[in-house]
Amino acid sequence: MLHTIALLAALAASATAHCTRPLLQEAVDAYLLAQTTGETTPFTAHFDNSTWLGYRENSLKVNITSGIIATPLAITHNRSFYDTSSCATFTEVVVNSSTTPYVIGTQLRFTNHKINKVDSIVTKPGDWLFNITGYAHWTAQEKWDPIPAEKRDTQLTIRKAADAYLDVFNNKNVTVPWGTPCVRLEGGLYGDAGPNGTCAGGVPSGVPLTNRRYVVDEALGSVDVLLDFGNSKWPDSHLFRVEGGRLRYVHTLTHCGRANCGV
Ligand SMILES: *[C@@H]1O[C@H](CO)[C@@H](O)[C@H](O)[C@H]1NC(C)=O
Ligand SMILES: *[C@@H]1O[C@H](CO)[C@@H](O)[C@H](O)[C@H]1NC(C)=O
Ligand SMILES: *[C@@H]1O[C@H](CO)[C@@H](O)[C@H](O)[C@H]1NC(C)=O
Ligand SMILES: *[C@@H]1O[C@H](CO)[C@@H](O)[C@H](O)[C@H]1NC(C)=O
Ligand SMILES: *[C@@H]1O[C@H](CO)[C@@H](O)[C@H](O)[C@H]1NC(C)=O
Ligand SMILES: *[C@@H]1O[C@H](CO)[C@@H](O)[C@H](O)[C@H]1NC(C)=O
Ligand SMILES: *[C@@H]1O[C@H](CO)[C@@H](O)[C@H](O)[C@H]1NC(C)=O
Repeated sequence: MLHTIALLAALAASATAHCTRPLLQEAVDAYLLAQTTGETTPFTAHFDNSTWLGYRENSLKVNITSGIIATPLAITHNRSFYDTSSCATFTEVVVNSSTTPYVIGTQLRFTNHKINKVDSIVTKPGDWLFNITGYAHWTAQEKWDPIPAEKRDTQLTIRKAADAYLDVFNNKNVTVPWGTPCVRLEGGLYGDAGPNGTCAGGVPSGVPLTNRRYVVDEALGSVDVLLDFGNSKWPDSHLFRVEGGRLRYVHTLTHCGRANCGV
């Protein structure tokens, strides 16, 4: 019995032990290098081809050699989040260019110490409220510093705050832990950054946000959720910063394939 418990404990430890921040960071560096150079081979060297689930852009499976990652882009800002419990990462990539502007949100998922899924939301002019100068400016102004160890929220608290926000789009009864201030960067449109700014305005109803895929980073108080937005299932990323259990920043990227989603 004791032997079994010790064995189970050892197995549990080995299942998570590989997922360290440095290991995840190394893979994200390879991702960013590939997007900068358009050269995918050093990135694919990090793949676990035996359990490979695919390279996706805006929810569609794409051959990586014809993906955006095979086009060199001059990245002007990047910010990454590491989920050592789920073995996953999220990276916000901004290309502040007047000719080839992009904001890309990419989740990498790992198994056997290696990447087995790439899931990107790729936004450009025409996508929901896209404005590259707005996005580049505002994301750079914000503070997403590490949360001091004694003030960190748990994985569960961070995830619950995000879920409450996402649930209220389809259920007005949900109580959302709004922070004050809370500011939303939506495509490129910024809310009121002032001392009393709120994210509570402009929340629609009857909009289910489904197929949620999470990356939670307690050290940065953040969670990214890739999801299908509304009944049209637009590919979407919602990135949240949570401080003391309350929402501080929300970044949204929504691809809909027609100008401003036809709205
Ligand atoms: C996975 O396959 C790709 C080709 O699709 C190859 O370039 C890459 O080196 C392989 N990765 C590993 C770790 O074997
Ligand atoms: C992806 O494209 C490359 C280059 O065109 C090709 O060699 C490879 O077979 C394709 N992979 C798949 C899975 O279709
Ligand atoms: C990503 O951001 C980090 C930190 O700001 C920076 O050191 C690095 O050069 C950036 N990488 C790319 C490819 O832009
Ligand atoms: C884009 O954002 C910038 C900075 O917030 C703003 O000055 C500009 O008016 C916006 N452009 C459009 C077309 O909304
Ligand atoms: C983005 O690019 C525009 C035009 O090149 C420039 O004016 C602006 O300062 C840049 N924004 C940031 C945050 O670097
Ligand atoms: C919200 O609360 C009202 C009043 O208690 C109730 O009638 C309604 O069914 C609730 N709606 C949902 C979606 O739970
Ligand atoms: C923000 O809220 C505080 C407390 O309610 C209030 O005293 C202050 O005047 C508000 N500031 C602004 C700019 O509205």
